Amino acid sequence: MTANNTASVPVITIDGPTASGKGTIARLLAQRLGWHILDSGALYRLVALAAEKHSIALDDVESLQPLAAHLDVEFVAGEGAEEMVVLLEGEDVTLELRAETCGNGASKVAALPAVRAALLERQRAFAQSPGLIADGRDMGTVVFPGAAVKVFLTASAGERARRRYNQLKDKGLDVTMRDLLEEIAERDERDCNRAASPLVPAEDAVVLDTSDLGIDEVVDHLWNLCQVRLN
Ligand code: C5P
Repeated sequence: MTANNTASVPVITIDGPTASGKGTIARLLAQRLGWHILDSGALYRLVALAAEKHSIALDDVESLQPLAAHLDVEFVAGEGAEEMVVLLEGEDVTLELRAETCGNGASKVAALPAVRAALLERQRAFAQSPGLIADGRDMGTVVFPGAAVKVFLTASAGERARRRYNQLKDKGLDVTMRDLLEEIAERDERDCNRAASPLVPAEDAVVLDTSDLGIDEVVDHLWNLCQVRLN
C-alpha cells in the first residue's frame, strides 16, 4: 500500500504534542463517523515495550529495526469510545502501554529513522473503507500526506499536564504533576527537535488550540470541519 491509497479511502489526520487530547478526540470522532482508527503513538510505545521485554537498549538500532518491522501486535476494538485493547505477543499490555515511562521510551525509539521506516507501511495499512482517523505526530506530514482533512491540536503545557494527570489517575497509575510537567517538556523537546519527522503542523493543517475548549466542543468543531471538507 502507498500514500496514494488515501485517494480512495478518506483519511483525517490529527497530529499534535503529547497529551493534547488527540487520542480521545480521535476516538470520539471515529465513533461518530463509524470510521477506523490508528493510534500511531501506540506502535512506538509497543516498540519501546517490546525492547524492554527482550532486553534491547533503546538506542540499539540494529536490533530495534527488525523488532519494529516484525512486531507481533493485535488491536482489539473496545466498547464505543473505549480505548482499544492491545496485545503484544499475545499478552494484554493496554495499561502498561499508557505509563509515562513507556511514552518516554517511545519518544526515544521514534527518533530513529530506521524504526520510523519499519512502521510506515504498517500504519498506511490501517486506511480501510469507509475511512480512517489517524492520530500521531507525522500523520499529515509523512504517513498520509494526501489526507482529506488535517488537524493539528495544541494546548498549553500546563493544561496538557493537568489532562494527563487526570487520565493516569483514572487508570489507577501513580503520578505527580511535577513529574508530568517535566516529562512533557522533555518529550516536547525531543519530538519537536528530532531530525526524522519532527512534530510540526502540515502546511495545509487546521491548527486548533484546545486549552480553553471542552472535549465535546473540539469534537463538534472537527465534525463541522469534516462536513465541509468531505462533502
Ligand atoms: O501519542 P503518544 O504519546 O502515545 O506517542 C508516544 C511517542 O511516540 C511520542 O512522544 C512520539 O515521540 C512518538 N510518536 C511519533 N510519531 C507518531 C506518534 C508517536 O514519533 N506518529
